[in-house]
Amino acid sequence: MEKNKPVVLITGASSGIGKATAQRLAQKGFRVFGTSRNPKPESVQQWTMIALDLNQPQSITKAVESVIQQAGKIDVLINNAGLGITGPAEETPLEEVQKIFQANVFGACQLMNEVIPHMRKNKKGKIINITSVAGYMGLPYRGFYSASKAAFMQVSEAYRMEVKDFGINISCLAPGDIATDIASRRYHSPALENSPYFNYYKPTLDLMNTHVDKGMSAMKVAIQIEKIIRSRQPKVHYLVGAFLEKFSIYLKRFLPQKVFEKMLMNHYR
Ligand SMILES: NC(=O)c1ccc[n+]([C@@H]2O[C@H](COP(=O)([O-])OP(=O)(O)OC[C@H]3O[C@@H](n4cnc5c(N)ncnc54)[C@H](OP(=O)(O)O)[C@@H]3O)[C@@H](O)[C@H]2O)c1
Repeated sequence: MEKNKPVVLITGASSGIGKATAQRLAQKGFRVFGTSRNPKPESVQQWTMIALDLNQPQSITKAVESVIQQAGKIDVLINNAGLGITGPAEETPLEEVQKIFQANVFGACQLMNEVIPHMRKNKKGKIINITSVAGYMGLPYRGFYSASKAAFMQVSEAYRMEVKDFGINISCLAPGDIATDIASRRYHSPALENSPYFNYYKPTLDLMNTHVDKGMSAMKVAIQIEKIIRSRQPKVHYLVGAFLEKFSIYLKRFLPQKVFEKMLMNHYR
């Protein structure tokens, strides 16, 4: 029975969007492998947890080998694990920025590189890359997070065109604010009282955290992910979030830049 199920590998399944998706897909008949840097066996045993750290290239290779060894194939890869970073761009330590890019971009690309040959052999596969509405615009005090998600989105577009002829489909799903623990895991540049940014950054940081707390449920993202998996011809880009978050992407495209910038700055003050 287990053998006939489509096999899904989802990174970052210990929490938030990844956990909700693992739960949803396991209930809907998929064989799910979820990852965490420190995996604990799921108490209900609906899916298998394995170790993967996007900042450790060897652990990415090992995780893919482990799934292939156990299941023989990967039908769907969900590149979900990711980290946030906040701070005035000028004051954000570049070594922290490198860690974020390693996890959100390079590690996620390495994972695609390790999985694609297995999908190519089977002449089919779907990859869903979790990006962010933040990747569509440079957000104040989240510039490097926006940049990492924008980079991941752009490179995903290129991968998509390159692997299409192998029967592999790649889509990006950009969530808006989703109520998860992301704020507790992200790197926050300290709000220093002697910083020229203090009076702006501190209130913006508090506001950002409130937005996440009041965000949509992670299960809504999981449901959208399931729809993409079941779609015969998934699109390149999907959005999931509040109306205003999705609309802001269209506003950026059509409003004069000055007006959009003012609107964004007002939103975060
Ligand atoms: N929540 C939002 O508002 C929101 C909005 C837009 C986009 N997103 C994106 O959605 C994805 C999931 O976020 P979430 O909100 O569900 O966050 P979350 O609750 O913090 O979950 C993040 C997951 O990623 C894993 N992870 C973190 N760093 C990792 C690393 N270096 N290597 C491997 N795994 C790592 C964590 O697992 P362990 O700690 O157990 O290793 C955890 O399972 C992320 O890509 C995020 O950027 C979230």
